[in-house]
Amino acid sequence: MIPVITIDGPSGSGKGTIARLLARRLGWRILDSGALYRLLGLAAQRRGIPLDDEARLAQLARTMEVAFDDERVLLDGDDVSLEIRTEEAGNRASRVAALPAVRQALLQWQRDYARAPGLVADGRDMGTVVFPDAPLKIFLTASAAERAKRRYNQLKEKGLDANLRDLIKEISERDERDRNRSVAPLRPAPDALELDSTGLSIEQVMDRVLDEVRRIWPDQGV
Ligand code: DC
Repeated sequence: MIPVITIDGPSGSGKGTIARLLARRLGWRILDSGALYRLLGLAAQRRGIPLDDEARLAQLARTMEVAFDDERVLLDGDDVSLEIRTEEAGNRASRVAALPAVRQALLQWQRDYARAPGLVADGRDMGTVVFPDAPLKIFLTASAAERAKRRYNQLKEKGLDANLRDLIKEISERDERDRNRSVAPLRPAPDALELDSTGLSIEQVMDRVLDEVRRIWPDQGV
């Protein structure tokens, strides 16, 4: 059994940052499952496939060539790391992610990503659907205003265009769709540890998560 830690939550909750820090600290692999849906949205756009054509999108999900290479994300060999980070790409991702056949097509790929020595999996349904047996599940939240602010800073840091008012609106629309879809909606697994990171620093959230890691895997030496 490969040890898995799942970190789910809405966009801007800080799960990407915490997942990355945790994976580095443990020396485990990291799965950015949101990037998969972002890649599929981009691949569909490049091929002119409508975002509601479930059968063709599921087929594309099975055949698109994706690679995670350190911090870079590749689609069909192209570095699309920045292109998939825009809010537009996030919205496209959220739309294709609502289609059951698409989620089914990506399920095994995600499970196969868990390899020794361990995996930190970041997304919306990591604890509920993809890795329901993970010994440690975190559900990270933060107020909508704080999440929009964080997203704004992230986009600016990457040199991408951002407008705070538009972001608040887009983030709430995306959350609404992710929470209310029929398959794998955004919600905490029954056995997840829910952490509200509003007003907490990254270090404070990490300390709380590391306490749990030490409790479950005392031999990891973190
Ligand atoms: O985490 P993110 O913002 O990169 O995710 C982009 C979209 O992908 C998100 O709005 C919903 C979808 N997603 C999903 O449905 N399931 C996941 N495990 C991860 C992301």
